[in-house]
Amino acid sequence: MNIILLGPPGAGKGTQAKLIEERHGMKQLSTGDMLRAAVAAGTETGKKAKAIMDRGELVSDDIVVGIIADRLDAPDVKKGFILDGFPRNTAQAEALDTMLAGKGLKLDAVIEMKVDDEALVERITGRYTCAKCGKGYHDRFEKPKVAGVCDVCGSTEFTRRADDNEKTVRDRLAIYNRQTAPLVAYYGGSGQLKTIDGMADIGKVTRQIEGLLKGV
Ligand code: AP5
Ligand code: MG
Ligand code: ZN
Repeated sequence: MNIILLGPPGAGKGTQAKLIEERHGMKQLSTGDMLRAAVAAGTETGKKAKAIMDRGELVSDDIVVGIIADRLDAPDVKKGFILDGFPRNTAQAEALDTMLAGKGLKLDAVIEMKVDDEALVERITGRYTCAKCGKGYHDRFEKPKVAGVCDVCGSTEFTRRADDNEKTVRDRLAIYNRQTAPLVAYYGGSGQLKTIDGMADIGKVTRQIEGLLKGV
């Protein structure tokens, strides 16, 4: 199964993509995670992307479309993929359609996660991640069982994203509303769009997604 998780910064795309990956074996393809890896590795792409990401703006379509095109050819997406953070504007959505058609692949569902703006700001400013295994946490909503120790790998080192401050979150939200929200209409026309209540707690959001996946 091939799906898109569509939603604003902090909607829970990454959180739910990892859970779907564990349960269904589909591969999470997060352009944000791939770009952050490129920044950390100091590659040419990373050098181009860093300042843009820190401002919360969109990296060029050429770069992200190229990244996704490469990933869709890898063997680990044979069981399906979960696009997280891609496409982010109409040009990327059209490039994806062309790419999928060329590879004989199709989308099974586009899941829109709806969350209020103020909740998004709280989610993003409280987010942190295990530095070793990448498990995501939140100061209030998703704490490790033992404070300061990762549930998954036992590491005691955590990181926060450079773009996870209130100013940048509000800029990211404005860009989402301007450039990405039109994708709701783009996919609405094809009957692939399913909307869920992303305001619910993490477990309830997972159950809504599971219900939708059973239906496709
Ligand atoms: P990206 O990494 O995609 O960031 P984003 O879209 O802003 O989304 P986030 O990762 O912030 O949110 P999320 O929905 O994954 O939320 P999460 O599950 O972590 O992009 C970053 C940057 O890269 C962009 O600004 C751009 O510069 C560039 N970029 C990436 N893709 C691009 C593209 N295609 N084109 C151009 N540029 C691109 O959850 C957030 C927090 O809330 C966590 O702490 C979590 O524990 C908590 N939480 C999750 N669900 C719930 C819940 N239901 N209730 C309470 N808390 C919850
Ligand atoms: Mg994410
Ligand atoms: Zn860990």
